[in-house]
Amino acid sequence: VHPIGVAVLGLGNVGTEVVRILQENAGDLEARVGAPIVLRGIAVRTLGDRGVAEELLTTDPHSLVARDDVDIVVEVFGGIEPAKELMLSALNAGKSVVTANKALLADYTGELAEAAENHRADLYFEAAVAGAIPVVRPLMQSLAGDRVDRVIGIVNGTTNFILSAMDSTGADYSETLAEAGRLGYAEADPTADVEGYDAASKAAILASLAFHTRVTAADVYREGISSITADDLATARALDCTVKLLALCERVLGEDGQERISVRVYPALVPLSHPLASVSGAFNAIVVEAKAAGRLMFYGQGAGGAPTASAVMGDLVMAARNKVFGGRGPADSTYAKLPIAPMGDT
Ligand code: HSE
Repeated sequence: VHPIGVAVLGLGNVGTEVVRILQENAGDLEARVGAPIVLRGIAVRTLGDRGVAEELLTTDPHSLVARDDVDIVVEVFGGIEPAKELMLSALNAGKSVVTANKALLADYTGELAEAAENHRADLYFEAAVAGAIPVVRPLMQSLAGDRVDRVIGIVNGTTNFILSAMDSTGADYSETLAEAGRLGYAEADPTADVEGYDAASKAAILASLAFHTRVTAADVYREGISSITADDLATARALDCTVKLLALCERVLGEDGQERISVRVYPALVPLSHPLASVSGAFNAIVVEAKAAGRLMFYGQGAGGAPTASAVMGDLVMAARNKVFGGRGPADSTYAKLPIAPMGDT
């Protein structure tokens, strides 16, 4: 069988986990895909001891992406360039792309999706929204025949950690932000998280999928949590509510009777009886309301190397299966069949 060659662009928290899983689970992955998945190279900004075989590393991502034996590109560089140019060159060459890059997708999904369509390549991005939580594929596939009316999510772990901690300790914002930094949740520059830019990118992606339209980050009303005080949390408590940074995507009816899509990110009062109120710490949760399905809730780890790598790997397996089986799914014969425990043993 023709092996599936993979290039990984970036070796940060997510890239490191992806490489580890690719190497440690090679046997299982081959069984699921129906062909071996072979890591051809990893593009990094600087060489050095990165804990992986040195011959896999390169500082030239363009040559890596262009290699004939690379079928799928996993982009975990982040940022707009060179990620966008590299993804477009991969797609234009008919290679599939798996990415976790929400900022890029929030603004350029249209351009990337068009390149993918034109060249019959896959563009998968489950990892771009809410880490390990499967929400992109449900919106894109499972609910594609339904009509989604609203998506409400806690899609940023850092701010949810800060707001939950302020709520439970009564501490003020700056003290709690510093604690979030010490625990490794908040970045050295926490602006993208606390001012809602990260959540706005994710909201744009969710809204685009939910409503089959193109929403970019610039279309999203955005307000962060940096002006939330301990008093605000106390007032919310007195009203049997808490404060959550929500991403709210919904259909609204304009005065002219025309339906429009409204996407907002802002700190909102959430009644304690609402399922999103009990999502605390660095967790994420997304509630989807659809006509026929009713209300669905997705909950789990929305950030971190391993949870995000889980989503990347799922996409990678799908993209690889599509290469091997042309989108039909693997033949039953490719499954590694584990024996079934006799009844009564467990
Ligand atoms: N910084 C993000 C968060 C994780 O705190 O949720 C990656 O999207």
